[in-house]
Amino acid sequence: MLELRNLSKSYASGRPVLSNLSWTFKAGEFVSIMGDSGVGKSTLLNLIAGLDTPDIAANAAPGESPIIVDGVPMAGLDDDAATKLRRARMGFIFQAFHVLPHLTLLQNVALPLLLNGLPTARAAEMLDAVGLGGRGGDFPHQLSGGEMQRVAIARALVHRPALVLADEPTGNLDPDTAHSILTLLRREIKSTGACAIMVTHSHTAAEMTDKVLQLSKSCIQETTNVNPFKQ
Ligand SMILES: Nc1ncnc2c1ncn2[C@@H]1O[C@H](COP(=O)(O)OP(=O)(O)O)[C@@H](O)[C@H]1O
Ligand SMILES: [Mg+2]
Repeated sequence: MLELRNLSKSYASGRPVLSNLSWTFKAGEFVSIMGDSGVGKSTLLNLIAGLDTPDIAANAAPGESPIIVDGVPMAGLDDDAATKLRRARMGFIFQAFHVLPHLTLLQNVALPLLLNGLPTARAAEMLDAVGLGGRGGDFPHQLSGGEMQRVAIARALVHRPALVLADEPTGNLDPDTAHSILTLLRREIKSTGACAIMVTHSHTAAEMTDKVLQLSKSCIQETTNVNPFKQ
């Protein structure tokens, strides 16, 4: 579903953030990525989303792409094509929710459908699925953080993306709300069959995923020892 092949990224300062990462993410997998602050987790998600570009290796063959999404080499895409791919095949969930304040809940959830030229009927179904069925006409300022993240989950999944990217989705939520949000996220991901990658600091959150990866500068590793406090 998503392949990373010798993915590297350095910023203008020249200091490498990520170097030579390789990993294969499978369809239907809910994977968490943990790692120290500043190690490059958000950078990795931005690269996968095509919002930032990886370094091109000096010895790279023409057409070789360090990121392949659903069989599509990202390196071969211009900005327009990358935007189209992102809109159609990806969904995003952020720590700060990023629900648009001037749109109703229903309009927020319908947005990915509109952008993809799809019928919007599924927006109401998704709001129902996340437990906000009667609230489509409300505006985001009327919601709690947990409710806002429910809207964001509905919006991220409404167009049935193949890949869902979540950056600290429970970072702004209390533990009980975080648990119910992750239960919901897991259920919705599994029902759409998407591959989901969630960056998190929380061991409790990571334990709710199928696989926990530890990111360091030059390595992605699967870890089974998620919770160091639990033997
Ligand atoms: N746009 C940027 N320009 C320069 N350096 C950046 C940029 N974005 C991130 N960095 C640096 O890259 C490193 C990784 O950042 P980030 O991916 O945000 O880490 P994480 O999400 O794991 O905390 C940090 O040292 C950060 O300062
Ligand atoms: Mg980050």
